[in-house]
Amino acid sequence: MKILVLGKNGQLAQSLALTRPAGLDVTFLCSQQINFLEPENWDDQFDCDFIINTCAYTDVEAAESEKEKAMQINCYALEQLSRLCVQSKAHLLHISTDYVFDGKKSTPYSEKDSTAPLNVYAQTKLAGENLLMSKNPNCTIVRTSWLYGPYGKNFYGTIQRLAAEKESLNIISDQVGTPTSSLSLAKVLYQMILSGKTLDSLYHFSNDGVASWYDFAYEISKITQSHCQINPIHSWQYPSKAKRPHYTVLNCQKIKSEFKLSSLHWKEALDQVYQQGVKK
Ligand SMILES: NC(=O)c1ccc[n+]([C@@H]2O[C@H](COP(=O)([O-])OP(=O)(O)OC[C@H]3O[C@@H](n4cnc5c(N)ncnc54)[C@H](OP(=O)(O)O)[C@@H]3O)[C@@H](O)[C@H]2O)c1
Repeated sequence: MKILVLGKNGQLAQSLALTRPAGLDVTFLCSQQINFLEPENWDDQFDCDFIINTCAYTDVEAAESEKEKAMQINCYALEQLSRLCVQSKAHLLHISTDYVFDGKKSTPYSEKDSTAPLNVYAQTKLAGENLLMSKNPNCTIVRTSWLYGPYGKNFYGTIQRLAAEKESLNIISDQVGTPTSSLSLAKVLYQMILSGKTLDSLYHFSNDGVASWYDFAYEISKITQSHCQINPIHSWQYPSKAKRPHYTVLNCQKIKSEFKLSSLHWKEALDQVYQQGVKK
C-alpha cells in the first residue's frame, strides 16, 4: 500500500512522518513540489492508494484580509486534487476544522450538526469540504480541533516560549474546545487506512475531554514547570479580526466505534507531546 502526504513541512505532516508505522510506504511532498496556488501545474497522475492532504491556509487572523488566497488553498485547489485522485483511483483523506461550527451549542458537535462558520478561514475550509463532497465520492474528511504538537507554530509552542519569558500571561477562558495532539491525529489516520474498512465521508476526531484556552495554557505552564502566572480573560479583552466560536467540542463517537479507537485525554496527549520536546 502506498500513501502520499501533501504538506510535508506542516505540523500534522511532520507528525505523520514521526509516527509512520514500520514498513509502510509513505511519501511526503512539500509546497514547492505541489503548490496549491498553481494546481494547473501539477502532474497528471498520482501513484498511490491513499492521499492525506494536510495542506491548508491555517492563519485564522491573516485570512480575514487574504480571503482569495485562503479560498484558493483551502477550496479551489481541491477541485484539481479531487480530479487527480479520481483519475489515480486514490482515496483522499482531507483534514478540516471544528471552526465550521458557530459554537452556539453547549453539547458536543456531531457530524450531523449544521455548520455555520464565523470567520473567513472557517468559511474557506467549509467551502473546501463542500467541494470535495460534491466532486469526489472517494474522499474522507476528518474534522479536528485545536491542533498542536511538537512541530511548527502552534499554541503549545507559543505558550511554552512566552511562559518561560514572562511573569504573567492573559489567556481567553470563554472559548471552549478540545486540544488535539498532532501525534494522536496522525496515529488515527494511519489506523483508519490500515483498518481496510470502507471509509465514510465525514468523521470528527479530537482527544478526549474539554478545555478553555486558559485551561490549556495553565496545563502547558504546569507541565513545563514555568513560574508564569496564567490569568483568565474574556474574548472581548483580546480583540482580534476573526470571530471565534465559544464552544466547539467535537462528538467523536462515530470514528471511535468504527475503528475501535481508544483516544487519550487531552492532558495525557499533552504529556506525550511534552516528552517529544519542541522540534525545529
Ligand atoms: N492548527 C489547528 O489548530 C487546526 C485545527 C483544526 C484543523 N486544522 C486543519 O488541520 C490540517 C493540518 O493543519 P496544520 O496545523 O498541520 O497546518 P500547518 O502546520 O499550518 O501546515 C500547513 C501546510 O500547508 C502547506 N501549504 C500552505 N500553503 C500552501 C500552498 N500554497 N501549496 C501547498 N501547500 C501549502 C504548508 O506548506 P509549507 O510549510 O511548505 O508552506 C504546510 O505544510 C489543516 O487542514 C488545518 O486546516 C488545523
